[in-house]
Amino acid sequence: MRYSTLSVLIPVPRSVTENGEKLFFRSLRFFRSFSEKSLAAQEKLVSFFAYVGNPLSEGGPEEPCQILFQPDPQLRKEEWKIRITSEKIEIFSGGEPGFSYAAEALMQMLFASLREGPREAWLDGGEIFDAPRFSYRGFMLDPARHFQSVATVKKVLSLLAAFRINTFHWHLTDNQAWRLESAIVPELAGKGTLDGGFYTKEEVREIVSFAAKNHIGIIPELDMPGHSGKILSAHPELACDSSHPGSEYCLGNPQSREFIKRLLDEIMELFPESRIIHLGGDEAETSAWEKCPRCLASLKEKKLKTMRELENAFMTDMTRYIVSCGRTPMMWGTCSGQVYPKDTVLQAWLDIREPLRIAPHGNKVVYSVHTSLYFDYPASPAEPQESWMFELTEKGVYMTDPFILWEKELANVMLGPEACLWTETVPDWRILPKLLPRLSAYGECAWSENSKKDYYDFARRKAYLEAAGYYEYLRK
Ligand code: ACM
Ligand code: ZN
Repeated sequence: MRYSTLSVLIPVPRSVTENGEKLFFRSLRFFRSFSEKSLAAQEKLVSFFAYVGNPLSEGGPEEPCQILFQPDPQLRKEEWKIRITSEKIEIFSGGEPGFSYAAEALMQMLFASLREGPREAWLDGGEIFDAPRFSYRGFMLDPARHFQSVATVKKVLSLLAAFRINTFHWHLTDNQAWRLESAIVPELAGKGTLDGGFYTKEEVREIVSFAAKNHIGIIPELDMPGHSGKILSAHPELACDSSHPGSEYCLGNPQSREFIKRLLDEIMELFPESRIIHLGGDEAETSAWEKCPRCLASLKEKKLKTMRELENAFMTDMTRYIVSCGRTPMMWGTCSGQVYPKDTVLQAWLDIREPLRIAPHGNKVVYSVHTSLYFDYPASPAEPQESWMFELTEKGVYMTDPFILWEKELANVMLGPEACLWTETVPDWRILPKLLPRLSAYGECAWSENSKKDYYDFARRKAYLEAAGYYEYLRK
């Protein structure tokens, strides 16, 4: 069985038209670019052609080039078009990401055509146009519970790029570890963790630049006021009870705010291009605050009734600081129905109605509801799991739609989805096995139009690319 090479793509594109022509693989020798924005795309294709034993060279004006990169001012930067005739392949885009996404698509088509080797391999002719459904297509990785090496992080980033994920949320701090080299808490990095891992500033810069080359923006997260056990072990004076610092900053201690602002300054300097800074805000416990004289005094002074209101005031201050630095704050949605300033992006993770509760307040929403997009959850019963975990199969991920039933209600606030890989049960060497089988399904959920999605057709395309050796190439 041979499928048209125009019908193997993941994520499924917006539109495909066939023209009945064939372009033989053996005729492909030279490429030529008419856009400086196609550099990353060219590199991808050059590596691919070397891998399949038909090195591709950059051709000059005299060469009969068969792959041409053309700028197209009608297309946005993530949009792309490929036109294939019996003579040539033309790749059009309005920007760097679009050219790279087209190169990824072309590689999938070439893998499909090359299943029996290059001799008679051909691409089916036609035209493909593609554009994203969501502008925000995120993925979160948690190096705090288990550390990932720089090599693993880069591998993850290149896999994300292959499936058009454009946002990498990096959960760098938690109770278990503080994974950043820091001039403010130099004693913390890598200390007291089984794996000893942390990222030096140099390594962070290397990862930031690698991500940028893959058209991926990074959202660094500094989790607060809960999930802060590690940093409070070094600065117990910033907890309510310094002899039992626990996981929460003291909200009534003015030093907490000043200290966190300095940490945020350091993070913003390390991530100069990060438009969004994530402040955490999830799962803080109120019990230490309830017993703390400073927190109780602060509650009274601010004329607030509950510790949740005090937490809200504290986190609102932090969001104002981020805004004053010219960035956009982001937080996990809260269990307790707190409202945050409209310019704060909220990440819905608790239940499918959370975006509906946020929408009337006007905050932009990122959709990460755990039952649909927590990649730490087992894809099969054989995988490690904790009592809080649901099973999350590839099909479950595929069926995810950030709008659920409420496209009308959420249209103005929904930025897009973000899959999250927490690592309580995932050491470095299991990151790829957790990520890759479900990533294609997630890519289609984040990129493709709902009306184009069909799980069984997706399963066919995936099996076909798998059998053609495409996923082996990605794993390398
Ligand atoms: C979360 O899963 N605590 C955001
Ligand atoms: Zn306190």
